[in-house]
Amino acid sequence: MARQIDPKRVIGRDKLIGNIWKRLEKGSSLRFTAERRIGKTSVMQKMRAEPKEGFRLVYLDIEGTETPEYFVEKLLQGLRDNLTGPQKAKRMFKGLHKSLGGTEIAGMIKLPTAENDVWQPALEKILEEVCGNFPDQRIVLMLDELPYMLQKMDDLARKTGKPSPALHILDVLRELRHKHANLHMIYCGSVGLHHVVTQLRSPGLSSEPVNDMPLMEIHPLEPKDALLLADRLFEEEGIETTEERKPVLAALVKETDGFPFYMERVAERLAESGLTIGKEQVGEMVRCQLASGHDPWQMEHFRSRLSDYYPGEMKDVHKGAVSRRDFAVKILDALTLSEHPMSIEEIQSTVKTSFSIEDRGVIVEMLRLLELDHYLIADEEKRYTFRFTLVKRWWKIAQGLES
Ligand SMILES: Nc1ncnc2c1ncn2[C@@H]1O[C@H](COP(=O)(O)OP(=O)(O)OP(=O)(O)O)[C@@H](O)[C@H]1O
Ligand SMILES: [Mg+2]
Repeated sequence: MARQIDPKRVIGRDKLIGNIWKRLEKGSSLRFTAERRIGKTSVMQKMRAEPKEGFRLVYLDIEGTETPEYFVEKLLQGLRDNLTGPQKAKRMFKGLHKSLGGTEIAGMIKLPTAENDVWQPALEKILEEVCGNFPDQRIVLMLDELPYMLQKMDDLARKTGKPSPALHILDVLRELRHKHANLHMIYCGSVGLHHVVTQLRSPGLSSEPVNDMPLMEIHPLEPKDALLLADRLFEEEGIETTEERKPVLAALVKETDGFPFYMERVAERLAESGLTIGKEQVGEMVRCQLASGHDPWQMEHFRSRLSDYYPGEMKDVHKGAVSRRDFAVKILDALTLSEHPMSIEEIQSTVKTSFSIEDRGVIVEMLRLLELDHYLIADEEKRYTFRFTLVKRWWKIAQGLES
């Protein structure tokens, strides 16, 4: 997770946050879907800093959480720290703590260690008490980096030879949000939750633990907000421009696709260069970051995760079985070399040189997945292109496809 900024400094996002509140008011729980570094956590931090009346927000970063017990401890801690107020609440937490048999060490709550799982009854009891004690309030649990937590729990269970609790915890959370009308959840993370759930499901098990939570897409900053951020960054970094400032700011926004994280990194490097900056220097700096062997923006992630996202093999008429990951790579290679969006037929005929896939449905499905995973975007006529030019540019460099 990136370093967090003061929520007061979060630019824009008002329309998005307004829509999130509307959905929550209607009783929904939500899944945020977005590419990494787009500003998901900042959206939640802004909501938390400016809560709507009648809502109590509890934000938890659960990236490092490897066991369900630790998750429940973090949750209890978060609820206790955030649901301050009436004496009644203090009494309720004291009573809860006692009845769970927990201890507190240096302000951190610990559940008792026991042979049997204590986390599920503890989780049920905590949310029962909290929802019951705040009947006029809607409690929103914002669970950031949830997919990482599930993967870590699963890895630990594998290492210790125990059954994985990851899917079970999702099922229990689902049950609880259905049981308590004033309980809402927001699941967030930069790893695709749909992939993690698929990996966790054992064959034949049809658990659908998140299909009651509509997806909410988070986009990069809107152009006018991205320009405001660019202006603030140039101001704060003391960057001088060779020409009128506006077109240089616009170049920063364009070159970074309006991702605040990349905008910040570029502004920092431009300031460090000590040069007077024009549009060309902005473009050169982005290129230099994308091409650097040190990979300062960890773009390699876009390539390395493909084997996790698309495991296994598919049928090739000539070669027999071929890797799904390699097929995805080939499609991305084809699209990075294309100046214009490509139709399914064009993509099919381009990949034909390496893959003999007769079933058009296989290509359609792979394109659907690449779209879901934010690599691609399609227009109404199903012509595909890279969703972010920054990723397209990096892919071209990293795959050695620049002429
Ligand atoms: N709306 C915004 N206004 C100003 N700065 C922002 C905004 N959104 C994000 N940032 C900056 O970009 C950084 C990264 O944003 P954030 O951590 O919210 O992204 P994320 O999508 O949660 O990233 P990750 O995928 O790493 O979890 C923030 O620390 C902040 O400095
Ligand atoms: Mg984040």
